[in-house]
Amino acid sequence: MNTKQSLENTGSSRDNTARQPGNTTPCSGSTARQPGNTTLLPKSILITGSSGGIGAAVSRHFLALGCEVYGLDLLPQTVTHPLYRHFICDIRDADSLPDIENVDVLFNNAGLQNSPDDIDNNLRGTVNVTEKYVASPRLRSVLFNASASSVTGQEYPLYAASKAGVVGYMKNLAIRLAPRGITVNAVSFGGVITPLNDPVMNDPASWEKIMAVTPLKKWTTVEEVAQWVEFLTTVNQSMSGQNLLIDNGEHDLNGTFVWPGA
Ligand SMILES: NC(=O)c1ccc[n+]([C@@H]2O[C@H](COP(=O)([O-])OP(=O)(O)OC[C@H]3O[C@@H](n4cnc5c(N)ncnc54)[C@H](O)[C@@H]3O)[C@@H](O)[C@H]2O)c1
Repeated sequence: MNTKQSLENTGSSRDNTARQPGNTTPCSGSTARQPGNTTLLPKSILITGSSGGIGAAVSRHFLALGCEVYGLDLLPQTVTHPLYRHFICDIRDADSLPDIENVDVLFNNAGLQNSPDDIDNNLRGTVNVTEKYVASPRLRSVLFNASASSVTGQEYPLYAASKAGVVGYMKNLAIRLAPRGITVNAVSFGGVITPLNDPVMNDPASWEKIMAVTPLKKWTTVEEVAQWVEFLTTVNQSMSGQNLLIDNGEHDLNGTFVWPGA
């Protein structure tokens, strides 16, 4: 068993408590929020970067719940389902974005890591998408996939700057959309098990170094990411303007207390 397989197995053991399609309130056709009705699913979700590791997993999660999924990506579709519609477009080019009405939830996920274009792609592109679809009268939640880098400043300079910019923009949007009752938040993951990370996941020496500074001794699976997205855009109706750091304790649980005898 290689390192990646063993990681995937570790992740799946945590999935025993995952919500199953039959274990949720099905799409009702109504998106109205009712007091006390915290499990109302959206009818539709727009996901950028839906051909990639996280985007495809989140798409499949919402499809399994019976929601329509609109996927935007530079690449051809990797998800096939009767409720899935794929649009090939470049989020950097606002004119390439398709007209889609009735978006209930927007998950801004598309991103590059360590390209000369990180700012234009990850920040400007995300702003393009958001400003295009926030006019949807049914919109009720926007979630941004930032990165732990937005909090720690680690990783590549332009990537860190782009993701911190996304968080600043998220807060601006949360203020603007609050009067419409729309929640706007960001998730900032540390390591997620996706092909993007194959170089370190498949290198035992790198992986050992990473685990040495990861208190929970694991990375996050894409299925767990999907559950966060569902919770924050569907159950959550009271938190807005927040950037959640979900990094298996890497940032806050590595003690640096130095004292003689301690
Ligand atoms: N994988 C991780 O460990 C991790 C951790 C924290 C944050 N993130 C963030 O999560 C998001 C998804 O990461 P992933 O691991 O699934 O990566 P990925 O490379 O597998 O997927 C990203 C997808 O976005 C698409 N995309 C990129 N630029 C685009 C553009 N201009 N227009 C349209 N589509 C575009 C790509 O084609 C790709 O399909 C990224 O924003 C990444 O920064 C990932």
